[in-house]
Amino acid sequence: LERTFIAIKPDGVQRGLISEIVSRFERKGYKLVAIKLVVPSKQFAEQHYEDLKERPFFNGLCEFLSSGPVLAMVWEGQGVIKYGRKLIGATDPQNSEPGTIRGDLAIIVGRNIIHGSDGPETAKNEINLWFKPEELVNYAHNSEKWLYGK
Ligand code: GTP
Ligand code: MG
Repeated sequence: LERTFIAIKPDGVQRGLISEIVSRFERKGYKLVAIKLVVPSKQFAEQHYEDLKERPFFNGLCEFLSSGPVLAMVWEGQGVIKYGRKLIGATDPQNSEPGTIRGDLAIIVGRNIIHGSDGPETAKNEINLWFKPEELVNYAHNSEKWLYGK
């Protein structure tokens, strides 16, 4: 099954939205395979967002990501990379649909509370950047046969 990297950014943690966000992934049926609370260094944030280094907001974005605790997670499930992004909603909360995490819980693009990998390659890279292999927990979830019918 596919895995994706999801992080609740410092604004989401400080606003007390951890349980709200985790519960949306959990209720959907995705399986949590890794989770930890970390304050990333600025240099680590720059690595995480390295694809955006030419953008004008890059420095502010990396300062922000390293400004406090981030809840780093790996979620597993069929189609979780793409559908996880649907649950999250459009990058700018002004354009995110109601019902999405950003649509329901955020207002501006620079404080959009959550990150999700944007494809299979980035998911793999981000999981490797944020977690050691032994931090990923392999287990069978009781609900799997009900979720997937097998
Ligand atoms: P992530 O899941 O955080 O990677 O967001 P995304 O994939 O929806 O968007 P993208 O990777 O393009 O941008 C990464 C982050 O940079 C966004 O989540 C925003 O917080 C921030 N960002 C993107 N565009 C802008 C912008 O135009 N202005 C500002 N201030 N921040 C931006
Ligand atoms: Mg992105």
